[in-house]
Amino acid sequence: MSGHLHAAPEPSVTVRTPGKVNLVLRSGAVRDDGYHPLSTVFQAVSLFEEVTATHVAPGAGISLTVSGPQADVVPLDETNLAWRAALAVADHTGLDADVALHLHKGVPVAGGMAGGSADAAAALVACDALWGAGLSRHDLTVLAAGLGADVPFALLGHTAVGTGRGDVLTPVLTRGEFHWAFAVQAEGLSTPSVFARFDELSAAGVSAAGADRAAGPTPLDGEMAGGVDPGRSPDPGDDAELMAALRAGDPTALGEALHNDLQAAALDLRPELGQVLEVAREAGALGTLVSGSGPTIAALARSRRHALAVAAAWTTADVVASVWTATGPAPGARITG
Ligand code: C5P
Repeated sequence: MSGHLHAAPEPSVTVRTPGKVNLVLRSGAVRDDGYHPLSTVFQAVSLFEEVTATHVAPGAGISLTVSGPQADVVPLDETNLAWRAALAVADHTGLDADVALHLHKGVPVAGGMAGGSADAAAALVACDALWGAGLSRHDLTVLAAGLGADVPFALLGHTAVGTGRGDVLTPVLTRGEFHWAFAVQAEGLSTPSVFARFDELSAAGVSAAGADRAAGPTPLDGEMAGGVDPGRSPDPGDDAELMAALRAGDPTALGEALHNDLQAAALDLRPELGQVLEVAREAGALGTLVSGSGPTIAALARSRRHALAVAAAWTTADVVASVWTATGPAPGARITG
């Protein structure tokens, strides 16, 4: 970094973006465009992707490298959302798409925590800054929504209600810090396959509605209880208790209000996740749920120490590939270097 007034363009820009957990996710029936209308509340958590964009010679094109846990399963070509983000900035501005992108992954891959979307959001901001494109926040948000339903939230961070495909965002006021433990599976789940199973279960009259509120001696039976009315559009007004818990900074009330309509579908595809949920409940988690489309399981804890205890219980039970702890909310896209 140079402090001079007429500094040469920075040779590289690094941007940090957060992963997320959906505190609530309610889905209606699939639309004609293949997407589902959602009412969701995102919370960004302190697991971060870091994207560095570096100048390359004119005409060199885009290149991509990746580091961090699970880096070996990340595609390094134009199917990577970060690559597509760089192309989107170039297309929108008429600038040449010449950049070397490096992704340092701190969010579980294909886990339902939007790590790929966070890469895309970071790449948008990094290319905009590197190329001096001067895009507005609005431009970046429009480009983000074009890349994927979860990408605008990775720009924004903190806590927000998402409607539409999950990409129409309204920030939510929260108090304090919430402590999370995450159980990551060796193999990810594809989001379209989880939504497709959700459609099949909805058609058959089965859903996860009420799963997290299920009481009684056999909690796992409750995973399949309740029902979604697929004809009804989900409505953020349904989650007044969750909003009150966030405003009050009350983790116990938040734990009781966590809910994911995709949970039954993820559990149907991965029955072994039931045990991961049960181990967290036995370890005293205030609430548990599948994160987004899974297969990552999120557990809300009382404190950082309790989050570590939940993570230790998973490790001891041998039901996970890796455990992670984090706090939320976390900030959105930031230039860090
Ligand atoms: O937008 P994104 O590429 O992240 O979405 C991946 C897939 O997830 C979509 O193609 C769709 O199958 C499913 N999806 C959905 N409804 C949403 C968001 C995603 O059906 N609201």
